Amino acid sequence: MNRPFQLALLLIHLCASIYARVWNDTGVGTIVLEEAWTIPELSTQTGELNTNLLDIFNQRLTQMNENGIDYMVLSCASPCIQGISDPATAGAMAVHVNNVLASQISNSTHRFGAFAALSMHNASEAAAELKRTVEELGFLGALVNDYQQSGANNDTLIYYDQPEFDVFWKVVTELDVPIYLHPRTNVAPISTLLYDHAPWLIGPAQEFTATLSNHILGLCTNGVFDRFPKLKIIVGHLGERIPSDLDRIDTQLLRQLPLGMPMLLNVSTYFHQNLYETTSGNFATALLRLHKETIGLDRILYSIDYPFVDIPSGTVWVNGLDKVLTPEELLYLKRGAAIELLKLND
Ligand SMILES: *[C@@H]1O[C@H](CO)[C@@H](O)[C@H](O)[C@H]1NC(C)=O
Ligand SMILES: *[C@@H]1O[C@H](CO)[C@@H](O)[C@H](O)[C@H]1NC(C)=O
Ligand SMILES: *[C@@H]1O[C@H](CO)[C@@H](O)[C@H](O)[C@H]1NC(C)=O
Ligand SMILES: *[C@@H]1O[C@H](CO)[C@@H](O)[C@H](O)[C@H]1NC(C)=O
Ligand SMILES: *[C@@H]1O[C@H](CO)[C@@H](O)[C@H](O)[C@H]1NC(C)=O
Repeated sequence: MNRPFQLALLLIHLCASIYARVWNDTGVGTIVLEEAWTIPELSTQTGELNTNLLDIFNQRLTQMNENGIDYMVLSCASPCIQGISDPATAGAMAVHVNNVLASQISNSTHRFGAFAALSMHNASEAAAELKRTVEELGFLGALVNDYQQSGANNDTLIYYDQPEFDVFWKVVTELDVPIYLHPRTNVAPISTLLYDHAPWLIGPAQEFTATLSNHILGLCTNGVFDRFPKLKIIVGHLGERIPSDLDRIDTQLLRQLPLGMPMLLNVSTYFHQNLYETTSGNFATALLRLHKETIGLDRILYSIDYPFVDIPSGTVWVNGLDKVLTPEELLYLKRGAAIELLKLND
């Protein structure tokens, strides 16, 4: 860690009372939480997208002000640490990126919050870094980009639904913070096998949700929520298609019980007790209405997916929902659910 960095961190410690999340509760503005940011060392983008990812206080804040966004939770753009196969490099980079983010937003914690980046190579080390960022840096939880790639040839995928991750989920529930599960592009061996026949399916149209929904259903069916009933997981893009298909998922999984599936309840139930979804990058009104009916509005939070999705298109969509939601419901979607989940007023 270099010296300016240590000084910045020291300052954060000294200003602990300032760092406590003070935000200007306007009572009307939106809160958004799947919004990407990065540092030059980790950026995989070029051009305007890259510029927007690196920025906080220029075009990002300007658009927040123009579009009535009170508060934005920043997190490291995919794949971030999940794209680093070497455990030591991944662990050090996670600490670095969290410290940079904390220092960059330290003068504006009334407008910006943060989800930690975590190396998921080792569950107890991930838990320790989460604890540090929540308790010492004021972070609101963590965002991980699907599986952790590992191995000399990037050919080991680490999923967080296995018993060795219980030490991580235990600390998550003790800290009582949510973990956001965000998509990533696949490592080369998987990508080649699945997508060489139709490479345009790589990315958000298909690959992201197909890959991440496996992981989410892995957490459900491997009984993670049975062992940690208070665990809160957020998924974006209106739930990575799972809440649109709950009937078939629940019914078909019943037939898999003879395989020794550890899950005690069913996926619908976890979507009422443990899982939350955001509207990031999926402004589909008909789907929102369906999900309101199936999982309930208390599980749904507004988000944009900036800078991959532009802020004004989110604003136009969410404000237009006054035709399908009551004023109370709309306010809850825009901010109330986030205030509760992130405990912003505590
Ligand atoms: C918002 O809150 C911060 C921190 O309490 C304060 O410095 C700032 O002046 C407030 N801004 C507005 C517009 O109220
Ligand atoms: C916080 O610091 C950044 C530079 O890192 C600056 O651009 C921004 O205007 C500052 N914000 C406030 C509220 O002082
Ligand atoms: C994970 O890290 C901890 C603490 O550094 C260490 O004791 C443990 O052996 C590691 N676990 C594995 C599976 O490498
Ligand atoms: C492993 O993945 C990283 C990016 O995540 C890439 O830079 C590196 O070349 C890959 N290594 C191999 C052996 O494919
Ligand atoms: C899922 O579990 C809930 C709560 O026990 C139950 O009401 C529902 O019928 C179950 N769904 C299916 C398809 O079994």
